[in-house]
Amino acid sequence: MNAFVKRISKKISKLSPDQIQQLFNQLVEENESLFSVLESISTGLIICDEKWKITQSNKVGDRLLPLKARYYESKQADLQCDEEIWNLVDDEDIASFLQKASNEKKINISEEFILKTPAGAARYLNISLLPLVQNKKLCGTIIKIDDITEKRNQETLLHRMENLASLTNLAASVAHEIKNPLGSISIYIQLLQKSISKARATDEKIPDEKFLEKYLDIINQEIDRLNNIIVDFLFAVRPISAELLPENPVKILESYIDFFKPELNEKNIILKTDFIEKSPKILLDEKLFKQVMINLVQNAIVAMPEGGTLTISAKIKDDKYIISVTDNGIGMDENTVSRVFEPYFTTKVTGTGLGLTMVYKVIKEFGGEIEVDSIVGEGTTFKITLPIPQSEKRLLPDII
Ligand SMILES: Nc1ncnc2c1ncn2[C@@H]1O[C@H](COP(=O)(O)OP(=O)(O)O)[C@@H](O)[C@H]1O
Ligand SMILES: [Mg+2]
Repeated sequence: MNAFVKRISKKISKLSPDQIQQLFNQLVEENESLFSVLESISTGLIICDEKWKITQSNKVGDRLLPLKARYYESKQADLQCDEEIWNLVDDEDIASFLQKASNEKKINISEEFILKTPAGAARYLNISLLPLVQNKKLCGTIIKIDDITEKRNQETLLHRMENLASLTNLAASVAHEIKNPLGSISIYIQLLQKSISKARATDEKIPDEKFLEKYLDIINQEIDRLNNIIVDFLFAVRPISAELLPENPVKILESYIDFFKPELNEKNIILKTDFIEKSPKILLDEKLFKQVMINLVQNAIVAMPEGGTLTISAKIKDDKYIISVTDNGIGMDENTVSRVFEPYFTTKVTGTGLGLTMVYKVIKEFGGEIEVDSIVGEGTTFKITLPIPQSEKRLLPDII
């Protein structure tokens, strides 16, 4: 109630009929202007009383939240529908989200939902519950509904474009890789042709057998090299089919650490771990996540030929899950840092240069990011940032 109305309502018995009429008109006007604000915002709003029955909804709310026909019928007839909102919502997930919030008396929460529009397209909604407070008392719930479809579609598009860009890089590096063996095959074939025609021109004998075999061996080796390049290329471009399930990364890390401890001992590497105590679950493919860790740890081991310290941590910062792998090994110069994720980039004699390409692809598939921080002679940190699902964020302690 605004101050003016408050003041006047105390004196209502002393007001003349004219003054009451004036007051009434003012209230109607105020109400209408509030109502038009409610109707013109792009966020869907549905207001429920303390028993979770709908008292009001704006047009956007009616359009976004799938409600059963009987709700619209009673709204048209200006009647209140005497049912809890979850019985009126025409989507199981949303209905159970609302009912659960009511049972567990949770407010100030939000969750994302995917709905199918009648045309068959996906619609992404973010639904938040806010307390409705009047006279300092909780008297209901405001359901706020935002259509985040466009934002989501743009994210997917960006993700695809990024993949396409890395594919172009990949194709360029394959072309480069193929050039060398093709060049030497062509040189040795020319040498063979020359010696054959020379032999024909003279005594028609095949040139020295050893000489011939040597050339053919080299050609065979180069063909093998080409074949390997193609096999690796196919591995690098093949889309990874990740099956993302809610998993506790700390549990996976702990089980994996037991597996590589003996190797670390043998190589004089001390392992330090720093894991968050009650880890939320995040969407991962366990097998692929293990592959990522194997690659990062193997690279770290190679970077510390004289031994050293390997630190693995799992933490939460700014609503994100952060996993870091740090070594105090040889480190990398700037040029190496800028190329580590490139397919075939390696500084090792027997390296494939595909380990970190795979790591990058998997982390992208998990919706995350990976960064490198390195100083020559001091060491390297690979930092993986992964999103925490909305449903898990709610369970996080407030201090984080
Ligand atoms: N922890 C690390 N410390 C120093 N250099 C690293 C580290 N991890 C990766 N690198 C550099 O990145 C390159 C690419 O790594 P990767 O893709 O795993 O291929 P590979 O291990 O086969 O060389 C390595 O050759 C190395 O130069
Ligand atoms: Mg490697």
